[in-house]
Amino acid sequence: MRILSGIQPTGRFHWGNYFGAIQQYVQLQGNPDEAFYFIANLHALTTVRDKERLKEMTYDAVLDLLGLGLDPEKATLFVQSDVPEVSELTWLLMTCTPMGLLERCHAYKEKKARGLSADMGLFGYPVLMAADILAYDSNLVPVGEDQKQHVEVARDIASSFNYLFGETFVLPKERILDTSARVPGTDGEKMSKSYNNTLTVFEEVKPQRKKIMRIVTDSRPMEEPKDPETDPLYLLYKLFATEEQRQEMAELYQRGGFGYGQIKKALADISEEYFAPARERRARFAANRKEVLEILDAGARRARKKAREVLSRAQENCGVPVRE
Ligand code: ADP
Ligand code: TRP
Repeated sequence: MRILSGIQPTGRFHWGNYFGAIQQYVQLQGNPDEAFYFIANLHALTTVRDKERLKEMTYDAVLDLLGLGLDPEKATLFVQSDVPEVSELTWLLMTCTPMGLLERCHAYKEKKARGLSADMGLFGYPVLMAADILAYDSNLVPVGEDQKQHVEVARDIASSFNYLFGETFVLPKERILDTSARVPGTDGEKMSKSYNNTLTVFEEVKPQRKKIMRIVTDSRPMEEPKDPETDPLYLLYKLFATEEQRQEMAELYQRGGFGYGQIKKALADISEEYFAPARERRARFAANRKEVLEILDAGARRARKKAREVLSRAQENCGVPVRE
């Protein structure tokens, strides 16, 4: 049984990324051979066109994941581009991917609908993602709802290859991450780097507190009670709170007679405390680049070994090698 997922290094991770995805990666890790997680820097190339920025964001993403508890003793952590077999496999998969399948994929379709021209990278994005998944005989792919379609495409491409060339790939299944805690941003909309409303996990404490103090609230009078479940501040607080703290906060809302400033301060305090151990762990790794590079080398070695085996199987089955 292998669990695999990738995350793009296109910005510093925010609370939405943590509670919606990374926390669950950490919960699913167990044995390094069963949990594979990687930083999808080749996918990021479809949007980031600055070499220094891409390198820096890739390394930062690795530090963030290590800080947040991905444990190289329990999971294989690597960078996508360190496994060239995946890019090689992408071509084999492309040869049996119908155009229509990719034309239906949302990232490409949306760009076209807005009248923008797309490049082959964006169009072929799901094929590279299929190679990421199939190269490691992955069984289960934990992803957000937005990536479900891409895992289905991986399964379709695998079936098509298996049909044409005989049993080659394991058919993967998505595991939709529990984003019932769809984390709201500072404007009350879904937290997303595209909306510029994020609270990042490793932001400096002072500017983070300022951002929290600016979270949009309604103009309810102080004394009026309020339904906590409709307030983004409460929904954010709940992510960090113990059951007892959560109940206390809910009662405060129901009683009324409180100011939002008070809640914002409580949110700043509780989030700071919650991420303090991760911050420390991240700082420890950040001060030890050599150790981090060793972790990535070991991860890439393990990942490549598996990818090489699967690529050879695929090459063999479609008749690419000339020599026995
Ligand atoms: P962004 O929307 O900031 O570009 P990504 O699409 O890169 O974030 O998100 C990576 C993963 O993080 C998603 O697949 C999803 O599981 C999770 N995620 C992102 N934003 C949120 C959110 N506001 N609430 C819950 N989960 C989220
Ligand atoms: N496309 C995914 C995202 O934007 C990242 C990704 C790349 C991925 N390859 C993957 C996720 C393979 C799961 C499996 O979130």
